[in-house]
Amino acid sequence: MPRLERLPEAHIDYAYGIFLLRDKHRLIKALKSRYQPTVHGTRTWGSAFLIMDYLAANPPALGSKVMELGCGWGAASVFCAHRFQAEVTAVDLDPAVFPYVDVFAEINDVKVITRCSDFARLRGPDMGKREVIIGGDICFWDNLVSPLALLINRAIKNGTQRVILADPGRPPFYELCDKLTDKHDVSLQEWYSVEPDRYAGEVVEIRPRA
Ligand SMILES: C[S@@+](CC[C@H](N)C(=O)[O-])C[C@H]1O[C@@H](n2cnc3c(N)ncnc32)[C@H](O)[C@@H]1O
Repeated sequence: MPRLERLPEAHIDYAYGIFLLRDKHRLIKALKSRYQPTVHGTRTWGSAFLIMDYLAANPPALGSKVMELGCGWGAASVFCAHRFQAEVTAVDLDPAVFPYVDVFAEINDVKVITRCSDFARLRGPDMGKREVIIGGDICFWDNLVSPLALLINRAIKNGTQRVILADPGRPPFYELCDKLTDKHDVSLQEWYSVEPDRYAGEVVEIRPRA
């Protein structure tokens, strides 16, 4: 059983060692009145907790360079910075998510670099500098499958060792996994997280072919 962590105030979650704010928290209310994400970056999605649980069980080396694609509020990025002292770059095409990332990083006393970019435009050498690339719930439309497959190919060709994606189990996500099996080692598993609540979904890890 994990250590009991008393929460400092209402509307805060504690999951995998980090504090996260819920919708009803006064800071989230204040952020929502100023910044309204428009591409589903509107909360911490369950897939972020799947990534945290998976990485807790399959940790990267301390101090790894990590890039999160489609970071939304950045919970998985903050987790990596906190748990593995990772040097994290959180990428999203929607600039309205970054104030949420900044607040989550601040309340957990970590640094996360943010970058506003469509992930389809990320270059291979830039991604390849990161040993680990993560993404939670980022393959939710059919038209995201090809760009994501191409970018994962570019990242691995340029040196990325692990790409870890989580998803509730939508058809485009499975299509992406299928598309990658020709070129890379692809391990797709059902997974569940237990903090702050139980959540079940899928995690895929893509590695360079041995
Ligand atoms: C469903 S949310 C998931 C957010 C976060 N990963 C989580 O699990 O809480 C999807 C995120 O991907 C971002 N996104 C969608 N398409 C993108 C693209 N082409 N490039 C970069 N970010 C993208 C959205 O802005 C949104 O923040």
